Amino acid sequence: MTKIAIVYYSNFKGNTETLAKAIMRGAQSVADTEVVMIHTDDVDQHWQTLHASDAIIFGTPTYIGSVAAKFKEFIEKLAGEVWLARMWTNKIAGGFTVSAGRSGDKLSCLQQLVTFASQMGMIWVPVRITGGNYSSHGSEEDLNRMAGYLGVMAQANIDEPAELAPPPSDIKTAEMHGNHIANVTRQFAHGRTAFPAEYDTQAKSDASVPMTLAQLMASE
Ligand SMILES: Cc1cc2nc3c(=O)[nH]c(=O)nc-3n(C[C@H](O)[C@H](O)[C@H](O)COP(=O)(O)O)c2cc1C
Repeated sequence: MTKIAIVYYSNFKGNTETLAKAIMRGAQSVADTEVVMIHTDDVDQHWQTLHASDAIIFGTPTYIGSVAAKFKEFIEKLAGEVWLARMWTNKIAGGFTVSAGRSGDKLSCLQQLVTFASQMGMIWVPVRITGGNYSSHGSEEDLNRMAGYLGVMAQANIDEPAELAPPPSDIKTAEMHGNHIANVTRQFAHGRTAFPAEYDTQAKSDASVPMTLAQLMASE
């Protein structure tokens, strides 16, 4: 089985969670794929699952042009053992975000996710869907209507309930991106098993909660 974890934070309207579910559906449509969703509030119960995952997909709303503070709190937990022992090297990574504004500075948020994944040595998968809504024939119903490629960009009107926002085009875009990441993960994981790198066989810590940078420094 290919193992995929979706780690997300969602709070204000539950929109990021709606997208996480769509990503999960899309990933589950690929054969031999197991998917779990983990809210960042619960991450300390799920480190083993994350370490064992072939892919980790990151989701956060865009808050003040950035990842949400609580999502960053999760990322900073990686800045100890996970980072130093290169525990997530060559895991597949991808991401998604949602904001109220059409832009809302989502690009800045996704760029942060790419940087986080890169610091962990992960392999980022971009969106494969051609950007929509770019001509007089386009509409809000187009897939990838925000025409973003780093990760899924969704938009949810701030006054609308979850049944209306984000719209079906964004949900479908997220589903397709989940499917794409699962396909890439399946292809890569099989190749990695068939052709392991020297460093793939190195023992990795299985600590249930990874040591922080401060703990690592104190233990030297
Ligand atoms: C603290 C805060 C900051 C926000 N900052 C932005 C922003 O910079 N740009 C934007 O377009 N929307 C912004 N929004 C709106 C949210 O991104 C939007 O409502 C999103 O769908 C919320 O996702 P969630 O329901 O998963 O928390 C902000 C909302 C909150 C609560």
